[in-house]
Amino acid sequence: MAQTTLSRFKDVHAALCNPRLRQSLYDAGEVIMKDVLLTLHGEEHKIRRHLELRLFRRNFAHHYETNVFPKTLAWVLDPLVAHGETDLVDFGYRVTMNLTADFAGVDRPAKTPEETTRLLAIVKTFSEGATLIHSDRDASEVIDEVKAAQIAFREFLEPSWARRQQLIDQFVGGDIDEDELPRDVLTVLLRNQDSVELTDELIEREIAFYLQAGSHSTANSMVHAVNEIFCWTDDPSRLLEDPLLLQKCVHESMRLHPASPVAWRTPTEPITIASRDIMPDDLLILDLHAANRDPDIFGDDAEKFDPHRRVPDVKTELYGLTFGTGVHMCTGRDLDGGVASRPDTDEETHQYGIVCLVIKTLLEHKMIPHKSRAPTLDPTTSRSNWGTYPVQFERL
Ligand code: HEM
Repeated sequence: MAQTTLSRFKDVHAALCNPRLRQSLYDAGEVIMKDVLLTLHGEEHKIRRHLELRLFRRNFAHHYETNVFPKTLAWVLDPLVAHGETDLVDFGYRVTMNLTADFAGVDRPAKTPEETTRLLAIVKTFSEGATLIHSDRDASEVIDEVKAAQIAFREFLEPSWARRQQLIDQFVGGDIDEDELPRDVLTVLLRNQDSVELTDELIEREIAFYLQAGSHSTANSMVHAVNEIFCWTDDPSRLLEDPLLLQKCVHESMRLHPASPVAWRTPTEPITIASRDIMPDDLLILDLHAANRDPDIFGDDAEKFDPHRRVPDVKTELYGLTFGTGVHMCTGRDLDGGVASRPDTDEETHQYGIVCLVIKTLLEHKMIPHKSRAPTLDPTTSRSNWGTYPVQFERL
């Protein structure tokens, strides 16, 4: 099996949009990733994606940002602010775990830190199984742990499933309106289980996949953005007066620190891409991290954090290829990143995205770097993710 890496923005963009390249990063992790949206190809992928995109209809991001998100953020953040300090990495995982669980359709009835800890441990094990290809542990050991986590996950999934099924039955029987149904992935899948042949096991894996897809990437993006802001200005609170600039800071940080630094693809038939011949079963590595720093697109200072950076055309986003593009483009993109502002954007009604809104709320609580404890990088990964990031809240 030959291996080719593409690093230029235009080549990576073209490969992500090529329908003859299939997803291959999760082939080894099929215990948890088999036939979930991200690993499907062709017509099957099109049908499932079309189904799940229903969730985003009727101004979903606005509903999520204004109704779901503030409550979930408050019950995680308020005790930490009262305590006067927190670790941003731990907070990031806790809050995004809960936000993503709302989106996926997994209830947490107790709403306690212990309950979040249990769900986080389960999802962490799922992620290790999904990215088995990168693990240096014994594969069968990891697979056994994933199977045990799948059983533990039922403590959350089964009551969530039963509650939704009951509401769907009431809706079908005419007892409640459609507006009274939860707006989440699990409800969409249960309402369409027969029409697209979704087995119970597949629904279980799909919901588990959403929990992984949303939590890790959102948490890491948030911590990176806070760090970039702290390094860029001594007075981050001034960004509260310019929320559109705050969003640009988030997008610029996302460009420099894509949560998935690479995508993997394998051709379904022989193809030529970026003047290279690639055969079926060859591995094509798409380096999103390098593509996002391509000077041809982002300028000679592409390595630098500059929220005022201009992109070459309206089709290129400041965050580059961080959310991918083409058929597998991230469905959580607008939810997390919001919509890019234009010169005529109204900052009152603008959609900022969850990462920006979490940071805005932290700045409103006068978050500053911890005065006596420095942040540290995560030693368990070669990716430059933060392992700890202590912060303090000046307003007690
Ligand atoms: C900053 C946060 C996030 C980043 C950087 C990110 C990044 C990505 C990337 C790069 C892909 C494409 C992977 C590929 O082409 O191989 C992707 C796919 C996906 N993401 Fe995200 N993601 C984020 C947050 C979320 C959230 C919050 C959700 C759900 C609530 C989500 C759901 C998905 C789904 C369902 C897919 C698969 C789409 C498909 O295959 O059709 N992501 N994400």
